Amino acid sequence: MLRASAVAGIFRLALKGRVLFLLALSGAGAAFAHDFLGPESCASCHPDAYAAWQASGHARAKQSLSALQQRDLRCVSCHSPNEAEQRQAGVSCETCHGGGQYYSPRYVMKDPELARLVGLTDPGEKQCLTCHDASSPSLKPFDFKTKLKAIDHWSAERAKRAEKKK
Ligand code: HEC
Ligand code: HEC
Ligand code: HEC
Ligand code: HEC
Repeated sequence: MLRASAVAGIFRLALKGRVLFLLALSGAGAAFAHDFLGPESCASCHPDAYAAWQASGHARAKQSLSALQQRDLRCVSCHSPNEAEQRQAGVSCETCHGGGQYYSPRYVMKDPELARLVGLTDPGEKQCLTCHDASSPSLKPFDFKTKLKAIDHWSAERAKRAEKKK
């Protein structure tokens, strides 16, 4: 089902002449998960984010498991949750940001509202906690602010963009 804000968005965008594209997607969008394109597909446009992610535990989350554990559904539910349906190992860009099938073309990405309408999500604390919960091995409770800093893959991008705008 479409949220009221999404409907309002569609009407506004229809004025921009994109109505057919959107109607086609919004039908598919609400009911199905968007297909994943894989982290390499984001790398050409987001090289800094990609490099930071590559160096993070999320990229290696599957490799932390033994061969046996990699087939144990109790482990892959957090360490490689998109493997069965999307063939993506580890905790990847789209695990957090949503499948990029429709939002990754450049003209969509440049329009934050449109991108969100077709699958881009804003990962927040709640999403982290789906995996960083009491059953993960950490002895300390999850502190969102600190952990967010530890996965920073946006500051370099934002700095470059700010530089360009000058
Ligand atoms: C063709 C180039 C391109 C590809 C491919 C691409 N992006 Fe983007 N992305 C952009 C551009 C351009 C922006 C807008 C930022 C700007 O204005 O500089 C953006 C913005 C974003 C934002 C911030 C959106 C916002 O409004 O806050 C996220 C998150 C993002 N991209 C994630 C991804 C992910 C994940 C992938 C891979 C599935 C991906 N992008 C693939 C070009 C791309
Ligand atoms: C564990 C979840 C997670 C993973 C994995 C992840 N991201 Fe993000 N990403 C976030 C969060 C959270 C933010 C927003 C941070 C904020 O604004 O405080 C973000 C922000 C961004 C932004 C926004 C930058 C801007 O200018 O606003 C881009 C682009 C982006 N991510 C791309 C990627 C790409 C590309 C990958 C994979 C190579 C990736 N992310 C992997 C959680 C994730
Ligand atoms: C799909 C499950 C999943 C989600 C969602 C997720 N993580 Fe993780 N995260 C993991 C796993 C699994 C590891 C361990 C990776 C490894 O094997 O080293 C990890 C490791 C980390 C680490 C390094 C270890 C540590 O605890 O310091 C940080 C930091 C982190 N995650 C932050 C975040 C933040 C912030 C978010 C939300 C924006 C998030 N994660 C969302 C599964 C997830
Ligand atoms: C509820 C989500 C969740 C499940 C299920 C889960 N893990 Fe994890 N695992 C995490 C998170 C989050 C981290 C990293 C942060 C931490 O230490 O808590 C982690 C870290 C690890 C690490 C340490 C990685 C490193 O590089 O230090 C290993 C090893 C590990 N898990 C193995 C397993 C095994 C084996 C299973 C299945 C029996 C499993 N995990 C199930 C979330 C999970």
